[in-house]
Amino acid sequence: MSHLKIGLFGFGCVGSGLYQVLNQNNQLNAKIQKIVAKDPTKSREKTSVPILYDASEIVNDTEINVVVELINDSNEAYEIVKESLKKGKHVVTANKKLIAERLDELIQLANENNVSLLYEGAVAGSIPIIRNLEEYYNNDTLTSIEGIVNGTTNYILTKANQGISYSEALLEAQKKGFAEADPTLDVDGFDPKFKLTILLKHAFGISVSPSNLLNIGIRNLKPQDIQYANEKGFRIKLFASASKDEHGITAFVAPHFIESSHSAYHVDDEFNAVVVQAAYADKQLFYGKGAGSFPTASAVLSDISALQFNYRYEYRKTTPELLSLTTDFELYVYISATTKESLDHIEFEEIDDLYVSKGFSYKIGKIRFNEIQKINWNDQEDLSLLIFSESSNRILKESDKANSYNFHYN
Ligand SMILES: NC(=O)c1ccc[n+]([C@@H]2O[C@H](COP(=O)([O-])OP(=O)(O)OC[C@H]3O[C@@H](n4cnc5c(N)ncnc54)[C@H](OP(=O)(O)O)[C@@H]3O)[C@@H](O)[C@H]2O)c1
Repeated sequence: MSHLKIGLFGFGCVGSGLYQVLNQNNQLNAKIQKIVAKDPTKSREKTSVPILYDASEIVNDTEINVVVELINDSNEAYEIVKESLKKGKHVVTANKKLIAERLDELIQLANENNVSLLYEGAVAGSIPIIRNLEEYYNNDTLTSIEGIVNGTTNYILTKANQGISYSEALLEAQKKGFAEADPTLDVDGFDPKFKLTILLKHAFGISVSPSNLLNIGIRNLKPQDIQYANEKGFRIKLFASASKDEHGITAFVAPHFIESSHSAYHVDDEFNAVVVQAAYADKQLFYGKGAGSFPTASAVLSDISALQFNYRYEYRKTTPELLSLTTDFELYVYISATTKESLDHIEFEEIDDLYVSKGFSYKIGKIRFNEIQKINWNDQEDLSLLIFSESSNRILKESDKANSYNFHYN
């Protein structure tokens, strides 16, 4: 495409970052023509282009051929993106909720209007994971993709490890500009679930409604859970995981115990990491800033740049082969509560460890995923659930054998 004439929606954390990044980049044949924000009473930095407050200023401007959508309201973003695609404009967005909930419909609209819809910034901030899943892993069979895709919760968990309280850490994350306006989306695992939904489409070619994926967040983790992790030499990380086997695709978001040899163990603060396992390439780690003004703007900039050579996602993994989500599998988990009675109604397949003390108890063992799904974990203040990764499970079993305690009461 010759010249990119951009209409920018949103001038907040990412939008203003993009404005600066684009102004400093003179290699791109791209220019912001107009900016549309929401609140006309807000005082703002001076810009070289007008800041307007009416969406039609961009959507109906026939000169503008690219819409960059960086607002913080997914319903309004849907209207903006839909109308822009219908008007034959290419769209770049970083809105994971919008993409996760409406992807198939928006892909169809983009195809009907022969335009691109790109959203690298929507998953794992600056990490170029979508483009890699589309291009690099096109001919290699992926078996799993998992990782830390939410900067806010990783920041909170990092601080929790250092003894800082949950609310203090959340406030710090918000001040630094990488917590979402509504922290529920982050701390209850919705934001990583939206990203997982998008990853499922590009990694395995399946369309899943986010409402069909389980998300367990970090809000109810107790100081004793962190202490348990420290004692065992693990760190707690909120993981979005998807893997493929002969039964189908397993996918969910939940806190995990990660052992020190795991590539995500040292991923701290707002950093993200995605581990891709492919048949021939084997394991590969993508690491980088998962949020923040410039890191996210860099992913948006890369999408804008890709439009110069008419780049489009091809969704080549979408095949008629009937791959679908399965819930028929087992996980090795730790579940804690203030009393043992609160744990008794949860049906384990096998219990390897039971700890009971005044005010804190836990069980460790095998549980069916269907059983986990029966509970709304984010609403159960008293209950925390953590999953052992395959290796942390092995390490735990070896150390517990050495200590030879399995059932202990204090
Ligand atoms: N922050 C991050 O680190 C990050 C990382 C990855 C992805 N994202 C995604 O990037 C998007 C933007 O996030 P952000 O952090 O930059 O949000 P933000 O700082 O809260 O800024 C939101 C901007 O959107 C504008 N806005 C809201 N509704 C609008 C409407 N109807 N029309 C026009 N403008 C509207 C606001 O206008 P006013 O200025 O007038 O209030 C504000 O400028 C979101 O989808 C977010 O999920 C953010």
